[in-house]
Amino acid sequence: MCGIVGYVGAKPVVKILLDGLSKLEYRGYDSAGLAVNSDGKIKIFKAEGKLQNLKDIMEKNPVSNTTMGIGHIRWATHGAPTTVNAHPHSCNCGKLVVVHNGIIENFKELREELEGYGCVFKTETDTETVAHLIAHEYGKLNSLPKAVRAAVKQLKGAYALCVMHQDEPNVLVGTRKNAPLIVALGEGENYLASDCPAIIEYTKRVIYLDDDEVAVLTPDTVLITDIDGKQVVKKEEILPWEPVAISKMGYKHFMLKEIHEQPDVIRNALAGKLHDVNSPVKLDEVKLTAEQIKNLKRIEIIACGTSLHAAMIAKYIIEAFCNIPVDVEASSEYIYRKTVTDKNTLVIGISQSGETSDTITAIRQAKAVGSHVLIITNRPDSIMAREADSLIPVNAGIEVSVAATKSFNAQLIALYLFAIYIAEIKDSFDKIHIKNLKQEMLELPAKVEIILSHKENIMKCAKTFSSFRNFIYIARGINYAAALEGALKLKEISYINATGYPAGELKHGPIAMLDETMPVLAILMPGVVYDKVLSNAEESKARNARLIALTSSEDKELENLFEYILKVPTVDEYLSPVLTSVPLQLLAYYIAEFLGKDVDQPRNLAKSVTVE
Ligand code: M6R
Repeated sequence: MCGIVGYVGAKPVVKILLDGLSKLEYRGYDSAGLAVNSDGKIKIFKAEGKLQNLKDIMEKNPVSNTTMGIGHIRWATHGAPTTVNAHPHSCNCGKLVVVHNGIIENFKELREELEGYGCVFKTETDTETVAHLIAHEYGKLNSLPKAVRAAVKQLKGAYALCVMHQDEPNVLVGTRKNAPLIVALGEGENYLASDCPAIIEYTKRVIYLDDDEVAVLTPDTVLITDIDGKQVVKKEEILPWEPVAISKMGYKHFMLKEIHEQPDVIRNALAGKLHDVNSPVKLDEVKLTAEQIKNLKRIEIIACGTSLHAAMIAKYIIEAFCNIPVDVEASSEYIYRKTVTDKNTLVIGISQSGETSDTITAIRQAKAVGSHVLIITNRPDSIMAREADSLIPVNAGIEVSVAATKSFNAQLIALYLFAIYIAEIKDSFDKIHIKNLKQEMLELPAKVEIILSHKENIMKCAKTFSSFRNFIYIARGINYAAALEGALKLKEISYINATGYPAGELKHGPIAMLDETMPVLAILMPGVVYDKVLSNAEESKARNARLIALTSSEDKELENLFEYILKVPTVDEYLSPVLTSVPLQLLAYYIAEFLGKDVDQPRNLAKSVTVE
């Protein structure tokens, strides 16, 4: 979490920093700050709350003759989100300033030591320790790059840092470990940033820093060294995105835009991999040989949040199509138990951002014991993608809204393709059914378009239920994870307590909560569990719960049982989560909208969870 921007060059520094930070707001938004070298002096500005508050301060405090600056948008870890705790942080004399993304684990020990040298701490943050530490080293070495290198050798934890010193008015230093930081190259100017959206308006030329590398930027030069100062030769890469990819395109919120992008996202995810129903699925990015695939004894999938729900759906289809047992686990759980895995276990990491800290740790653990690691991500430029043995990029385009929507469906398509790819190599699933599934996959974009063009009923339903404080979502089989995902969407953007249950579990406890204040939404897709879920909905009705159905069924009888029927087109049950997820995203969106919530930036959250 947290976003960093640094700039050295002749353009108006404050504008570049504020523009960059607004593109990084998805990473955190509880406070913001910036420091500039203006008229030869370091000046720091900070504000609590949204970035707009910092913009207002800058409006009233114009700065002149700027040569460089660093900016930060915060998601608090150590210390409350107050102005004083906002970054940048400085040393005693105020000449050295630092912005930081990550957590310094040994900050208490370092702080004690630095206090012993006379450093006076003004904040509760771990980051202030870094400012004092680098300044302490600067006192000995009289060079910012050398001081940064000496200081980071003493840090434990995760960090992306951007540092400047008043006495070196054209030198910006950045370094990272287990947190992202890129160098972006301009003409007579250079940038540092946590992520590409911050700089894409100005340049597409980037260098991805690796752990323990230190970048030293001046307007005309970029030098990258290892932690000992030895030069490292890095490859310059060109970003594949246009700036328009990060605009709302006329939608009120990024979330609504991203929900509407899903037909194209599905087309993109299929492109080049599934052409026609008679050709096998092509997944060149999967580097396992046919022999290795046939020898796979087990698959483990690790992920967090929405990606974890995609993983749960994948378990269902991989076991059905490929006859390989699949374990699914939250990365944060996986990393704290014995990893029983080997070379015949494939480990799949799923992550929209490719930078979720727990998932990175989990895949590293799996690699260390010899598993092949396949990463499914929306960010082929991410840390996870770079460490993968095999990689399936899902090509959903940049997702800005904190609530994941289009990336979920893009992940599902990648997972369906993967399951069919393995099934075709192993010849483990009915060929006619595979052919039909392929045909239906090609039809999914049009079916999502149908859902998106009939939103009125979902909006009406959202309005009716927006005043409820609790919700239960029930489903069985492959749609159980879709229920969890729908409930997560509602929770995170409307703060309504929504819980997903396997419908059959209702009578083992949760049914006690049912009455007219607890609406029940049932995912009722024709297939093996249809009648069962219907019975569970009847049981809920008998306890006075108000009912909503999400279904493709044309059964008129449903109108007697359900207050609202949210319709999706008919689809093979295996593929149904791709369709059922869309009305649930829209329902959550419209409820949050009616409640006036901050849809794209819900409280307490950040899009990339780069801390444990
Ligand atoms: O980038 P990742 O897919 O690894 O992120 C995992 C979760 O943090 C993420 O899905 C989160 O749960 C979203 N806010 C869900 O909408």
